[in-house]
Order: sequence, then C-alpha cells, then structure tokens
Amino acid sequence: MTDLPKLHISETNLTELATREGAIAVFVTPDNALDQSARKVNGLTKKGIMRAVDNPQFAKAKVGEAVVMSYPIGLAATKVIVVKLPRRPSVEEARKAGASIAKARGDSDVLIMGGNIGRMEQVALGCALRGYTFTPHKTADQDALGNIELMVNAPANIQAAADAEMAVAEGVVFTRDLTNEPANVLTTTEFADRLVELENLGMKVEVLEEDELEKLGMGSLLSVGHGSASPSKVVVMQWNGGGDEAPIALVGKGVVFDTGGISLKPAAGMEDMTMDMGGAGVVSGVMKTLALRKAKANVVGLVGLVENMPSDRATRPGDVVKSMKGDTIEVINTDAEGRLVLADVIWYAQERFEPTGVINLATLTGAVIIALGHENAGVFSNHDDFTKGFMKAAYAEGEGAWRLPMSAAYDAKLKSRIADMKNVGGRDGGSITAAQFIRRFVKEDMPWIHLDIAGVASVKAETALAPAGATGWGVMAINRFIANAYEAE
Ligand code: BES
Ligand code: MN
Ligand code: ZN
Repeated sequence: MTDLPKLHISETNLTELATREGAIAVFVTPDNALDQSARKVNGLTKKGIMRAVDNPQFAKAKVGEAVVMSYPIGLAATKVIVVKLPRRPSVEEARKAGASIAKARGDSDVLIMGGNIGRMEQVALGCALRGYTFTPHKTADQDALGNIELMVNAPANIQAAADAEMAVAEGVVFTRDLTNEPANVLTTTEFADRLVELENLGMKVEVLEEDELEKLGMGSLLSVGHGSASPSKVVVMQWNGGGDEAPIALVGKGVVFDTGGISLKPAAGMEDMTMDMGGAGVVSGVMKTLALRKAKANVVGLVGLVENMPSDRATRPGDVVKSMKGDTIEVINTDAEGRLVLADVIWYAQERFEPTGVINLATLTGAVIIALGHENAGVFSNHDDFTKGFMKAAYAEGEGAWRLPMSAAYDAKLKSRIADMKNVGGRDGGSITAAQFIRRFVKEDMPWIHLDIAGVASVKAETALAPAGATGWGVMAINRFIANAYEAE
C-alpha cells in the first residue's frame, strides 16, 4: 500500500538553510513581497529569488503556482521552489500551492518555509495528495518519497490541524490504492482482508460470507456474484466515536470487476471496470480517516463486494431474484448490477442499525458521465436539508457535486410484467431511473443521498490534487459533512 510522505513540523530556524539538502520551498505574495524566510534564501543565493520573481514566468504564474531554481548558488539544496501565495490564502489556494510543490520536488525531501503564512496544514495536504503515485506494480520504481518538513513560526498552533489533514490524506490514499488496484489483485477476499486491517485503528470490522448473506435473504446482491469464482461478501465497519446515538450509515458499491455479466460489455475500455468498486473504496477511505482522527461520531460503513462475471452459473437476463426487503426484481440487463448490490446492503444497514441517515456511493451509470462529465458527481436525494449539508461540505472541499432530480414519474420505466420491478429503465434518464430503483430500498422518512461517482472516481487526466487514475473523490466531502453535522459541540 502506498505510504504517505512523513510530515514533520518544526519551528522556523534560518541558521542552517545553506547546508540543507533536497528541495526548499519559499513563498512570495502576488505583489512580489518576500517573507522573512524568502528574504533569507534570497540573501544566500545572491538575490536568486528576486531574479526568479522578476522573471515574466513568475509574473504569469497564478496563485498557488511555482517557478523552480535548479542548483542554486549558495545552497546545498538541489532546487528552490518559489511559490506564489498570499499571506492569508484560501483553502483552495493553499492546497494548490502544496500540489505545485509536490510536482516540483519529485522524490526528494522538501523543506517548506511556512513562516507565519496561513493555512500551512492545507499546503501539506496538497503536497501529500498531489505527490501520490500508484507504483506497487512498477518493478523499477520502488523509491520511497522523501519527507516533508514544514517550518513555521508557531508549530503548536498548526499541529492539530495538520494531524487532522494527514488523517484525511491517509483516507484518500487508501481509497485511491483500492480503486487503482487491478481486479486480479483486489479480489473480494483481498478487499475484505484490507478492511479487517482497520481493526488496528480501533474500528470494529465484520465480514459477512455468502452463507450468512443467503440466510439474510440477500438474493439480489448474491445474484451478481454467482458467475464469479470470487465469493461475494459484505463488510461492516463500525466507528463508535460518539455517544449512544444512532449512527449515520455509508454504503458502497464494491464490484471488484464489472464485465457486464451475460449482458457482456464491449472489449474497448473494459479494463476501466477495475474501478467499479470505487464507491466501496470511498466508504473505506472515510472510515479510515474517521478512525485516524478519532472522530467524535458514530458511523457505520458497509460495502457489498462482488465480481460481475459471465459463466455457466451467472445470472441470465430475464432471471427473477428476490431482495432482502422481499421485493422481486426481474434482471433485464446483468450489466445494471450495482443497484442490485446496493438494494440489499442499504436494506440491511437500515434493518440492523436504524441509522439517522444513509449515504450511498457507487460508480453506477455511464449516463451520469454523459450528463456531468468528470467534474461533478451526480447527487440524488429524498431530503433537502440533508442534501444541503452535504453540498456545502463538498463545495468547501472543492469536490464537484451536482444535484439531479428524482420523482415518481420515472417509476413507470421500472415496471416489470412478471416481477415487482425490473432492474433497468432504458437509456433516457438512465442515472435517474437507477436512483429511483435504489430509492425503493430506502425506508419511508429515512434521509438518504445517492452519489453516482462513475465520472469522478477515476479519471484519465490529472486533477488539481491527483495524478491520472483514482481520485479519492468524496472522502474529503463526507469527512467534512460528518464533522459539520455530527461532531459540532
Ligand atoms: N459500472 C457501470 C457504470 C460505469 C460506467 C461506471 C462507466 C464507470 C464508468 C455500471 O454497472 C453499468 O454497467 N451501468 C450500465 C447500466 C445500464 C445497463 C442500464 C450503463 O451505464 O451502461
Ligand atoms: Mn455494469
Ligand atoms: Zn458496474
């Protein structure tokens, strides 16, 4: 699993800068003001910082961007990273600065001269997240990433905030690793094993095996995994950091690979379906963050782990399956499998935990990518206030989320001739009919949000805080939502 760089916070000390190795990052404001540390480096480099700042490249740089001086005279360091940042940056600006530092430093150690500039913990977060690479299967690329040292004038003032942000980074990286991992490595069993490891952080983790799922009546979820040699599982993670109040439930779609089943997908791009457990990945990452920062909230995370494969035992189009709730479902298309998994896990979560709300995450429909592209996840809900809180948290974390409509009018498309419902409603409004399907397994009056993350869980081009590949979208938003809504004194 990918290790985050170590973050060390120290008190500003300008006496040993000349002999410092690795990379050094200093900050210059948009109107070219150097702080104490930048002035010191400027002096040691015979006005090197001022030469960099007077360059048109720096003038053109946006807030949070950087220019690099390689092998600066007067320093042992191999580069000085000059970052454009105001003294009181926004969260977004500070994270972007951290991302710029991550890209400029490469693998080497970096010393970030934070002085008394604001939000240095966000710079550290941006640096940790943008520095991520997924290398366990690159035989020649196993070098550990260098450390991050953050020098500030008052370390005690930011230590707690930095610890909380590093807990977030750990959760995001956990999600990214799970989501990037190929399906021959991340089988349902391997996924469950990695979640059991969270017990070391004080999490309660249970793995429900197929015989138990059968006893519970999860015929819908089990029908998806029938064709696979990997056993279907539901993993239940409980973080009880609050009092004795009912928990909030997070539910994730964990299809470790989605071939489409007998309704087989076309070959082109099928390899992308290794990320079809992205929803379960986000639930896992949030739970890890909550445990690491010892969140004062009760949260239960449930993931349905299955593999959707064609075989002689696979579910056929036209088969009728029975959900745990008792409703029967005609499986018209075995490629609309995520909703079959969510139906049973959402029902189980409500029956067992009587949560105060349910948030589910799933790489559910290609249609949501047509609607929103890769910038926003689709948000569906039955509850305006619950949604407002989530949207606010997502906005604050810079994670795109856009609410789409729901209404009973779409239900006509899910009518089945022979069962209580069918699992697809046609191409038009495909993400909405999928949401309407899931809603049938949400109890009356249960606040619920469905996040369709098919477009945002894994992307082909780099984003502000991630290289191409898994993004970890949603870990930060949900972590903040929980902090805002359930941990406020
Ligand atoms: N896992 C896919 C959705 C998906 C598509 C995720 C692209 C990420 C990127 C899902 O199981 C699926 O196959 N959905 C079908 C539903 C259809 C058969 C109603 C789809 O979107 O085509
Ligand atoms: Mn599918
Ligand atoms: Zn799928």
